[in-house]
Amino acid sequence: MTSIAFDAIPRDRLPGLLRDAPKAELHIHIEGSLEPELIFRLAQRNGVALAYPDVAALRAAYAFTDLQSFLDIYYAGASVLLHEQDFFDMAWAYFERAAADHVVRAELFFDPQTHTARGVDIGAVVGGLHRACEQAQSALGISASLILCFLRHLSEEAALATLEAALPYRDRFIGVGLDSSERGHPPEKFARVFARARALGLHLVAHAGEEGPPAYIESALDILHVERIDHGVRCLESPPLVARLAALRTPLTVCPLSNIKLRVFNSLGEHNLPALLAAGLCATVNSDDPAYFGGYINDNFAATFAALPALGPRQGYALLRNGFEASFATPAEKAAWISRLDAAFQAALPDVAG
Ligand code: HPA
Ligand code: ZN
Repeated sequence: MTSIAFDAIPRDRLPGLLRDAPKAELHIHIEGSLEPELIFRLAQRNGVALAYPDVAALRAAYAFTDLQSFLDIYYAGASVLLHEQDFFDMAWAYFERAAADHVVRAELFFDPQTHTARGVDIGAVVGGLHRACEQAQSALGISASLILCFLRHLSEEAALATLEAALPYRDRFIGVGLDSSERGHPPEKFARVFARARALGLHLVAHAGEEGPPAYIESALDILHVERIDHGVRCLESPPLVARLAALRTPLTVCPLSNIKLRVFNSLGEHNLPALLAAGLCATVNSDDPAYFGGYINDNFAATFAALPALGPRQGYALLRNGFEASFATPAEKAAWISRLDAAFQAALPDVAG
């Protein structure tokens, strides 16, 4: 374990340190990285009609009041994606942006049902995204993997059919997740499809405790056997659950700007990220749907640290290191990234050699 003199890192070096440090992004819906400009470009390319006349009008509609109000517009935005190249272009735009934020590991959620419902072949979805992941590694040095998410507002039968349809591409995704409308769709609704994914050796994650209660986090752990909880911020309402998550170091993929836009918290200054860390939880920082929530991963770090005085160099290091530890990369990859992270923090110490 490295010993870094966090208290000796000058406060004014922290923003640059967080910006330039190597980082992992573990909670990014690739359809949520679709910027309005690209939505319009793809709409034109594919002859898809949009309900908004231009980019400004679409952006103006990004005024959400809760998760569902966001999802309605997020699914409408995704309607321009039809061909393999569209999925490649969307993911490639994200990877270029992620590289600028010094992301070295990205685990991308994708929602096949959003596309197959419009008649798009699942092979085109997975194929385009996978090709972008390969190019991210070769051209940008980003290690990238895909996690297939089931839409929880749809039935478990639909999720099972989606998993079966994806099996010809089994080597192109590393896990399954659960997203979309949380309230009223508890994890146990998907017990069988997660059991099937588990038997296939896939990694398991689920959104829980964003809008839903701590009981949803418990059932994601007990019934779905997930390895990470996406969001999970409502765990603090249950001290026994916090103790369990801390003891097992179950990662939480927290998305601060998302939580403000969807009104999980009233302001960043009220976000519970410092309390999650103080409770010993393996919290990480992520962007969720960066094109819709006002920023990519570095924007999330910068805004959150600016708003919360309790977050300093020690917490910054913990969040970045947790991201690597919580990732589904190999132990060798993780160790290499953590060495780079340590070196970045050591380099931020004042020069005492005199
Ligand atoms: N929560 C649930 N489903 C989602 C989200 C989210 O934040 N983003 C995209 N799908
Ligand atoms: Zn999410």
